[in-house]
Amino acid sequence: MDQNTKKQAVALAALDYIEADTIIGVGTGSTVNFFIDALADIKHKLAGAVSSSVASTARLKALGIDVFELNEVDSLSIYVDGADEVTPHKHMIKGGGAALTQEKIVAAVAKKFVCIVDDTKQVDVLGDFPLPVEVIPMARSYVARELVKLGGDPVWRQGVITDNGNVILDVHNLKILNPREMESTINNIAGVVTNGIFAHRGADVVLVATEQGVETH
Ligand code: 5RP
Repeated sequence: MDQNTKKQAVALAALDYIEADTIIGVGTGSTVNFFIDALADIKHKLAGAVSSSVASTARLKALGIDVFELNEVDSLSIYVDGADEVTPHKHMIKGGGAALTQEKIVAAVAKKFVCIVDDTKQVDVLGDFPLPVEVIPMARSYVARELVKLGGDPVWRQGVITDNGNVILDVHNLKILNPREMESTINNIAGVVTNGIFAHRGADVVLVATEQGVETH
């Protein structure tokens, strides 16, 4: 089974978590794109969506799904998003698509975070995937020096400007043994908007597409 077939299978499995007539949070990325496409068939059951990126907003609207500003919404029944890495503790690295900040905000509002991945994303320890850190542009060099002090090798993702007008540093060679502590430590560096460790608000359910089918964790 190729990776896209797995992504589609796990995206379809996430439809079971949608409660009728609620507003749902929608993440960003290639796995979520399969989820958004699958929403087309059940869009009459949805009250609408809040999106975590310009790209997902455009895809949702193209299907005729109402997209609300987060500030217009009191609660979200679920948030469905992919991940770059996920551990058995349901901690994640996210931000491969540079949408980490809005993803973290929408996830914070949602009652339930349903993470959809294929089995290539499962790890025991976070950090093989370079950790994305969203940074205010003027702070880029300072933040990079601070990340080196933490043992990482930050690389500026040149040419990428986030939906919030900021830049991304991808931090290589971090072994993230205590994700909650590392999430807080990096977020405390002046100039960091947020980093791609999702440990304080991890997933509630992780759906994993494998050769044998979709597993629920
Ligand atoms: C975007 C993300 C994505 O969820 C993550 O990069 C996984 O993407 P994909 O489903 O394309 O592998 O965090 O910022």
